[in-house]
Amino acid sequence: MEPFRHHLFVCTQEKAEGVPCCSAASSFRVLDALHRELGSQGLSDDVQVSSCGCLGICDSGPVMIVYPEGTWYAKLVPNDVPEIVSSHLKEGQKVTRLERIPDAGMKSEILDHRTKYLAMLKGKDAAGVLPDDIHDMIRSFMPSRAVLTALELDVFTAVGKGGTAQQIAAKIQAAVRATEMLLNVLVSLKLLEKHDGTYTNTAVAARFLVEGSPDSARTAQLHMANMWRRWSKLTEAVRTGTAVESARDNGWVTSFIAAMDHTARGRARAVAQAVELNGETRMLDLGGGSGAYSIAFVKAVPALHSEIVDLPEVLPITQEHIRQAGLSDRITTRAGDMLTVALAPASYDLVLLSAICHMFSPEENQQLLARAYAALAPQGRLVISDFILDADKTSPRFATLFALNMLVGTRAGASYSEPEYEEWLKAAGFASSKRIRIPGPVNLMIATK
Ligand SMILES: C[S@@+](CC[C@H](N)C(=O)[O-])C[C@H]1O[C@@H](n2cnc3c(N)ncnc32)[C@H](O)[C@@H]1O
Ligand code: FES
Repeated sequence: MEPFRHHLFVCTQEKAEGVPCCSAASSFRVLDALHRELGSQGLSDDVQVSSCGCLGICDSGPVMIVYPEGTWYAKLVPNDVPEIVSSHLKEGQKVTRLERIPDAGMKSEILDHRTKYLAMLKGKDAAGVLPDDIHDMIRSFMPSRAVLTALELDVFTAVGKGGTAQQIAAKIQAAVRATEMLLNVLVSLKLLEKHDGTYTNTAVAARFLVEGSPDSARTAQLHMANMWRRWSKLTEAVRTGTAVESARDNGWVTSFIAAMDHTARGRARAVAQAVELNGETRMLDLGGGSGAYSIAFVKAVPALHSEIVDLPEVLPITQEHIRQAGLSDRITTRAGDMLTVALAPASYDLVLLSAICHMFSPEENQQLLARAYAALAPQGRLVISDFILDADKTSPRFATLFALNMLVGTRAGASYSEPEYEEWLKAAGFASSKRIRIPGPVNLMIATK
């Protein structure tokens, strides 16, 4: 028996620019409409939807096959979706006007397409040109840079409920000609829509990229614009082996801590769960940033109090987050340099180093772990949360990239490997340590005194 009444395969294949494909024919909009319609008709649990690769009739995209009947629908638009859902999926009546009957003609079309496509790939290979995926990898800074500029100019807020290029250019105080180019790119990236010369935000842009919306990530993502400037000095940093100093503007601390808070809030509960808190009462959160981890941890354990140590320019932001969480009585803050600040010996059950070790050199980390060891009570635990590399340092990919992020951003920071952490923890005196993998790019090292 099938687990679902119907199983739908929607082709979302992307192909080289200019080659017909379902993705270029907006199959993603059909997929969105399908999910929305199934939700609103209460069918989400009865109908499984999978996006899939090329089904072979690419000139007739977007293409979808409905199983168990094996019905092919072609040239779909989002407005076709309600009829397919109500007629075919609910009433069992195929929508014949959209159906493409599989016959010998269709099979030869599929085979012909495949032959031509393979011939094109062979031809490109024979011509000795760079494969598309490598070409795309090299150019992939372009969409990223376009979105960062849009965030810097606060384009999505200016688009608001909709406007022409001229109106939006006036709001962001930019040239109309250039604004229009940027807006058109944002449409192609599915962050804006354009109808009759009027641009509007897509639902995702309205939710996450407009300043002031409840889930706005704009301030946090502006940190990436700062990092982009640093990454543009990567070649020089690789030559010299360290960050090339670039000025930090006034907004640096705000966008940096907002960025940290944004990722921390997404992960803090999972980290707190993975740590398996068990009756701890005193926690030390070194470089606690926005306080997101201390907040999640003390919320998880009613008797837990946390002390955050961070730099003086960061603490006003930390204190505001703690105040908003209503936890000023259980989380305190102290200004200081974690590498030198006085830490009372054997005073904490838990020391947290979240996204800290990558900022420092191996020698500084050894010093830091020794300080954490001294600050912990017997049986106390040190939790390191970071982008941890596997032993040969070539995976996970994000951790390898983050090493370069630290190269361009710090004097001596890097991503470190599990064996490096193990060695430092042992040298600091910890009796045992283990790596805990959690979903996402961050892993934990937990060591017990
Ligand atoms: C990458 S953020 C991590 C913040 C937080 N732990 C988290 O995971 O969201 C690093 C934090 O360490 C702080 N920091 C950097 N160097 C420090 C130092 N020498 N002493 C104390 N805090 C420091 C920064 O201000 C920042 O809040
Ligand atoms: S790309 Fe969708 S059928 Fe070929």
